[in-house]
Amino acid sequence: MKRTAYIGQLTPAHAGQTVTLQGWVNRRRDLGGLIFLELRDRSGLVQVQVEPDSPAFAQADQLRAEYVAEIEGTYQARPESQRKGGTADYEVIAARVRVLNAAKTPPFELDKGDSVAEDIRLKYRYLDLRRPEMQRHLMLRSKAVASITTFLAAEGFVQVETPMLTKSTPEGARDFLVPSRLNPGEFYALPQSPQLFKQLLMISGIDRYYQLARCFRDEDLRADRQPDFTQLDMELSFVEQDDVLELNERLLSHVFQDALGVTLPVPFPRLTYHDAMDTYGSDKPDLRFDLAFSDVTALFQGGDFKAFAEAPCVKVIAAPELTRRQIDELERVAKQNGARGLAWLRREGDTFTGGISKFVTAQTAALLDLTAVPDGGTLLFSAGPWKSAVSALGAVRLALRDVFDLTAGGPAFHVSWVVDFPQLDLDEESGTWTYMHHPFTAPHPDDVALFGTERQGEIRAQAYDLVLNGFEVGGGSIRIHDPAVQSQMFQAIGFTAEQAQDKFGFFLDALTYGTPPHGGIAWGFDRLVMVMTGASSIREVIAFPKNNRGIDLMAVAPSVVDNTQLGDLGIQLATASE
Ligand code: AMO
Repeated sequence: MKRTAYIGQLTPAHAGQTVTLQGWVNRRRDLGGLIFLELRDRSGLVQVQVEPDSPAFAQADQLRAEYVAEIEGTYQARPESQRKGGTADYEVIAARVRVLNAAKTPPFELDKGDSVAEDIRLKYRYLDLRRPEMQRHLMLRSKAVASITTFLAAEGFVQVETPMLTKSTPEGARDFLVPSRLNPGEFYALPQSPQLFKQLLMISGIDRYYQLARCFRDEDLRADRQPDFTQLDMELSFVEQDDVLELNERLLSHVFQDALGVTLPVPFPRLTYHDAMDTYGSDKPDLRFDLAFSDVTALFQGGDFKAFAEAPCVKVIAAPELTRRQIDELERVAKQNGARGLAWLRREGDTFTGGISKFVTAQTAALLDLTAVPDGGTLLFSAGPWKSAVSALGAVRLALRDVFDLTAGGPAFHVSWVVDFPQLDLDEESGTWTYMHHPFTAPHPDDVALFGTERQGEIRAQAYDLVLNGFEVGGGSIRIHDPAVQSQMFQAIGFTAEQAQDKFGFFLDALTYGTPPHGGIAWGFDRLVMVMTGASSIREVIAFPKNNRGIDLMAVAPSVVDNTQLGDLGIQLATASE
């Protein structure tokens, strides 16, 4: 018997027709001698009624939750009194029921999926994925892939696969290593990204490359990170930064339109790294709401309040009315993010009370004017070295967003670019310079002369991040194509020529054989889909994810391997396995 339609394809136009449906029993109820089934397939749910004198009754009577069934019957409107509007007004009167397979009682109620412990959902992921919400996530993901592929093919991009078993790639996380049986004692690294390969493809003349690439990073896991994740990776030759940004704006808009029917306003706003940090305390600011900082460093400088008078940076945020308990909680957030404390003031009429009010009488008028804090509202201050002062207040800004639901009523999505990242990052502990993105990112042409000078920390990179609702959903750069600039970069980060040769020799050689100017970007595809679906974790949009300890609870990986297998690989464990 053939299925005549997916459940979700049935419309009032099918009323009166005989339909054949296949799927799972979502629920079974017996009422007044009748059997009511809810049949579910990937597209929807429909009620099926089986009457006691129906030839289908005996088979229907065997059905339990999650049994697989085929149902043939008449699609028809429910009695008038039961209609509520929409497809739920229709049901199938079964004429024939076939039990296609039995099912054990599921370990959790699929209907209650959201409230079930995540460990159980992950252990029985194949059942969890039956839930309509999870199916929606996977379908949206698939739609986004189709949308990307169509767009990029039309733009002349060539899809190329790069190896999984390879050498360490420079993204700054730890590598996952794979031992080589044929070369005992030697290891492949799984790619942290296809970075070097995609640049090599530009040297090869591919001109425009893309790939939905699996990447592997052994780092601490969070709600928006997986050890094994997917990037939409792309690289373009003969381009400048604006070309990459403009193409990506069109691509992302296209994907939002196709997959969600949402129009993103283009061009996306661009903020410099400095302004994003200075105003919102984050290099991935959530701009669905404002709550920008005001700078009050000058206002307090040389004044009586020592904690602020001597601070290199003092920022303030105007928050709604807060209780003492809320202020204490926000102070905890600030401290967790590197602040020594969180000073505060409450506005009462034209004065300030509470907190540090006795120290700031001279600044009252200026603070009222600058922050426009409403009566009853609270000013929250962060003071210290610039980066820690703004980062701590940035974390407070996000905590305020969550407490007061500040994104409600605003746009569902806000996309922006953060540009002009610093080329180099000073490691405070060792006092050495390191790269901010990776060592192949091109510096801003106006800043190259600063390499090797005291001001090399001011060199801007031609690097950009794509930010959606406060998540970094993509990052990329224009690359160095001039071997002389590449050596300057290595020198700046303290790499000797030998060290560079040892790590990236094949790549540095390739650079000398006629490298076109090029640049690109990679989207964190899972993270993007997470934000598009409104899911609370990246695990919700990956079919078979790892938990926060990097464990696949279903397949039970990683797992112990036997000594023969280790022996073949020339490996002996330092600690004996149990
Ligand atoms: P980057 O390291 O910024 O750049 O990665 C690009 C994007 O990938 C996503 N991402 C992750 N998503 C889930 N889990 C993870 N562990 C994880 N790590 C990163 C983020 C990030 O913005 N080769 C460069 C790109 C380039 O320069 O073209 C790169 O990999 O959304």
